[in-house]
Amino acid sequence: MRVVVAGATGRTGGEIVVEATERGHDVVGVARSADEVGDVPVHPAEELPALLDDADAVIDFTVPEASREHAAHAAEAGVPYIVGTTGFDDDGLGALEAAAESTAVLKASNFARGVQALLAVVAAGVEALPDYDVELTETHHAGKRDAPSGTANAVLDAVDEARGEELDRTHGREGEHLREESEVGVHVRRAGNVRGEHEVMLAGNDEVLTLAHRAESRRVFAAGAVDAAEWLADREPGRYEFGDVL
Ligand SMILES: NC(=O)c1ccc[n+]([C@@H]2O[C@H](COP(=O)([O-])OP(=O)(O)OC[C@H]3O[C@@H](n4cnc5c(N)ncnc54)[C@H](OP(=O)(O)O)[C@@H]3O)[C@@H](O)[C@H]2O)c1
Repeated sequence: MRVVVAGATGRTGGEIVVEATERGHDVVGVARSADEVGDVPVHPAEELPALLDDADAVIDFTVPEASREHAAHAAEAGVPYIVGTTGFDDDGLGALEAAAESTAVLKASNFARGVQALLAVVAAGVEALPDYDVELTETHHAGKRDAPSGTANAVLDAVDEARGEELDRTHGREGEHLREESEVGVHVRRAGNVRGEHEVMLAGNDEVLTLAHRAESRRVFAAGAVDAAEWLADREPGRYEFGDVL
C-alpha cells in the first residue's frame, strides 16, 4: 500500500512512518516543511494534493487547522483518510463530515486497542453502579496542546451514554463548592513525556472502583493507525470508527 503520513516529523507521525515502513508499505511524509524521517522523504504540506495521485490512504496526526485541509484534499482525490489529530472544533468536525461524502473517513481520539476496551468497561461499570460518583483524571506530556484529551472526552461521552444523561463536566475544583450528583469531575495533568494515562474512578457505598489505561509508548497509536489504514483502504465513502477495525 502507498501511505501518506501527514505530521511525519512529529512525535506520533514519526512512529507511524516506522511502523508502516516495517510492515512493508511504501511511505511518504508531509509536514510544514520538507524533511526526512529515516529514509522516508517528507514533503511540505502544499504538495499533498500531488502526492495523493497514487496514494491508497492518508494517515494524519497534525493539528486541527491542517487536518481540515488535509481531509478536503483526501476527499477531492477519493483517498481514504485516517485522522488521529485531536482538539477539533465544530467547524473542523463538520469538515470531516463533508469529506466523508466523497471518501472513507476514520477518526479516533485514541488508536490504542486498550482504550477501546476501556470505553466498554467504563460503560459497563457505570451501568452496574448507576448512583456512584464518577471522576476522571488524564495525564499527558508537557507538549500536548488540547485539554482535556480527545480520549478523555470520549470516555466522558461513554459515561453520559451509560448514565442516560449529560453530566456537568467540572474541570478541576477550587474554593468552596459541594459536589453535586449531576457532576463528573475532570482533572488534567501535563508533565514530562507521559504518553497518555486515563483513569476513571467510580465511588460510592463505601467502595471505590478504578479503571485505568496507560500507553507505554507512542508505538501503540502508530500500530492502531496503520491497522486502520489497511482496513479502510477499500471501503466506500462514509464515517468509520476504530471499533469497526477491531
Ligand atoms: N488519536 C490518537 O491515538 C493520538 C495519539 C497521539 C497523539 N494524537 C494527536 O495527534 C496530534 C499530533 O500529536 P503529536 O504529539 O505527534 O504532535 P507533534 O509532535 O507536535 O507533531 C505535529 C506534526 O504536525 C505537523 N504540522 C503542524 N502544523 C502543520 C501544518 N499547518 N501543516 C502540516 N503539518 C503540520 C508538524 O510538522 P512540523 O514538524 O513541520 O511542524 C509535525 O510533523 C495531536 O492532535 C495529538 O493530540 C492522537
